[in-house]
Amino acid sequence: MKAPLAACLLTALLAMGACLLCEFCAGPGADCRGDRQSCSPEFDSCSVALTDRTWEREKNQATVKACLTSRTCKAGPVSVSFGKAKAIRTIVACCQGDGCSPEVAKVPPANTTLNGRRCPGCYAHPPEQCREETIDCVGPETQCIDITVTTRAGGTPPKAVMKGCATETACTRIKDVTGAFPGILGELTNGKCTPAASTVSAAVRPAGLLLPALSGLLLLTLLS
Ligand SMILES: *[C@@H]1O[C@H](CO)[C@@H](O)[C@H](O)[C@H]1NC(C)=O
Repeated sequence: MKAPLAACLLTALLAMGACLLCEFCAGPGADCRGDRQSCSPEFDSCSVALTDRTWEREKNQATVKACLTSRTCKAGPVSVSFGKAKAIRTIVACCQGDGCSPEVAKVPPANTTLNGRRCPGCYAHPPEQCREETIDCVGPETQCIDITVTTRAGGTPPKAVMKGCATETACTRIKDVTGAFPGILGELTNGKCTPAASTVSAAVRPAGLLLPALSGLLLLTLLS
């Protein structure tokens, strides 16, 4: 956390402002506990992201608490399908104020209606094992997502690739906030989105980076 703290202090000096302190943690279940850490200056909110994960026959939940921008908080629920019955759905709640703890609602139920769009899907760790297949997108998933992550955990292969259908909220273009999850998870080394092909033509949008909460959750799914 040295770099964000230094950046925070510098900005605080220049702007006579103060940096937010937020709880940081990541773990299975509907809550987690961690230390308070100083946010980088671009973050104005403390967040809780709750994820429902379907992994073949298994269903579980995971929680990540971290600093976030209010813009990302307001983006709405995130849903990503990787194919082969692997999917995640996330909601984020935020609050402003040192160490504040937002109330987090329930993750909305999965919308399993096929929407006519398709994307290449694969979830591979390490990336060389990626066997791409075409998957059908459901509900609000209108984008094809393609991300590579580097884990910081020892012992596991350091890289993973994840491709699939995603909501626009998963693709919201924001800065990659490497370091938002220090030591716990890892880094998004590469992330892009393209509109999913369908029989109905879709507007072309620029590729975007993932929102930090999502990258943290994807890593959680990877590491657990
Ligand atoms: C599910 O997704 C479809 C396709 O986007 C949409 O038309 C429908 O309203 C959604 N259903 C619910 C319950 O949100």
